Amino acid sequence: MAVTRVPVSGPTLELSSEHEIIQQVAREFAQNEIVPIAAEHDESGEFPDLTIRKMGEMGFMGIEIPEQYGGAGLDSLSYVLALTEISRADASHGTIMSVNNSLYCNAIERFGTEEQKERFLVPVASGKAIAAYSLTEPMSGSDAGAMRSRAVLDGDSYVINGRKSWVTSGPVAKFILLFTMTDPEKAHRGVTAFLIEVDRPGFSLGKTEPKLGIRASATCEILFENYRCPTENRLGEEGEGFKIAMQVLDAGRIGIASQALGIAEAAYGTSVEYAREREAFGKKIGEFQGISFKLADMKTRIEASRLLIYRAALAKQSSKATSERFTQQASMAKLFASETATYCANEAVQIHGGMGYSKELPVERYYRDAKITEIYEGTSEIQRLVIARHELDLR
Ligand code: CAA
Repeated sequence: MAVTRVPVSGPTLELSSEHEIIQQVAREFAQNEIVPIAAEHDESGEFPDLTIRKMGEMGFMGIEIPEQYGGAGLDSLSYVLALTEISRADASHGTIMSVNNSLYCNAIERFGTEEQKERFLVPVASGKAIAAYSLTEPMSGSDAGAMRSRAVLDGDSYVINGRKSWVTSGPVAKFILLFTMTDPEKAHRGVTAFLIEVDRPGFSLGKTEPKLGIRASATCEILFENYRCPTENRLGEEGEGFKIAMQVLDAGRIGIASQALGIAEAAYGTSVEYAREREAFGKKIGEFQGISFKLADMKTRIEASRLLIYRAALAKQSSKATSERFTQQASMAKLFASETATYCANEAVQIHGGMGYSKELPVERYYRDAKITEIYEGTSEIQRLVIARHELDLR
């Protein structure tokens, strides 16, 4: 289903009716199917197989991928609308959806050959398999170009060795988009991207990362020991990996911004309800300026985040035709929305008092889940660096 209308138009910034429908469908699914299981999965840390499978059937795991490659064929705004709704119900589901869509499917659609799209994109975009993206290593996070893992060409395959960390969906992924060094002397220009099939010899899972939040999403280290990757599974040319990783992260950062917006909205919605009902000193707590000003600040930051995210999504959509970069818009959306999520979650705990600290309500989960949005896919410090470099023309 292709959306052709200008999505955000006129002085009222209204969504088109197609976008409203997508938002509504995602909201109903998230509230009916994800909300009831979110606390249980957060507690157990168990991957939410069933709901993720249903999301795949609904087209949520490859929203922007053309239907011919198994996706839903929708636009970038549809993606952020759906992802925000899913994350409002549960940030763990949002993480799994975001990595699958923007870091994996998007990369293969943009840089893959026809044959690679058939083998590596169709099963993932259609929701039949989960995929991951692996850039980070134990000794290289923000300084992504400083990786130590290696791939050496040997005949018709590359022999890969090394350890990667913080791989979202690593324990359940069938395919992994891997970035590793083929020519260390060239620094970031020596990084190459590969499509990894996890059932080949030489691949294994390392330790599971014990996490503060997004506990139902599975995160682990992955290990390569003389793993042979056929040359036809290389994504792009040798040495193009770093730029592929960065371009894909531009899209990913809009996804994380949408996830953050969902968390912020959840924290805000619960706070408004509580401020309307809870009484202290003979009146509703929302009537106290101390609480109402918090709500006003939360709401304002949420709406500002939304505008930055929509603008970044529109820039991403038009870049499909123009190839123009939307790096700065994506970084601004992620920076502001992620800091809004932690701000709103923190204020939500404060507004709820003791109940905000209790596991009887989801507020403490929002607080734990929000923090990661300021860290993964580029910390807030990296986003500021990217934004400033654009202003100073240093990119
Ligand atoms: N689009 C296209 N090209 C880009 C680009 C972009 N967004 N960003 C950089 N480049 C290009 C530059 O133009 C430059 O090209 P040349 O080689 O032609 O000069 C090249 O890439 C190197 O760029 P820089 O000199 O800016 O590189 P740098 O080493 O200074 O690093 C950085 C830049 C922005 C700090 C980058 O390293 C970065 O984004 N770091 C954070 C990494 C990150 O977000 N990691 C998260 C991993 S995913 C994750 O969190 C786990 C998960 O599963 C969710």
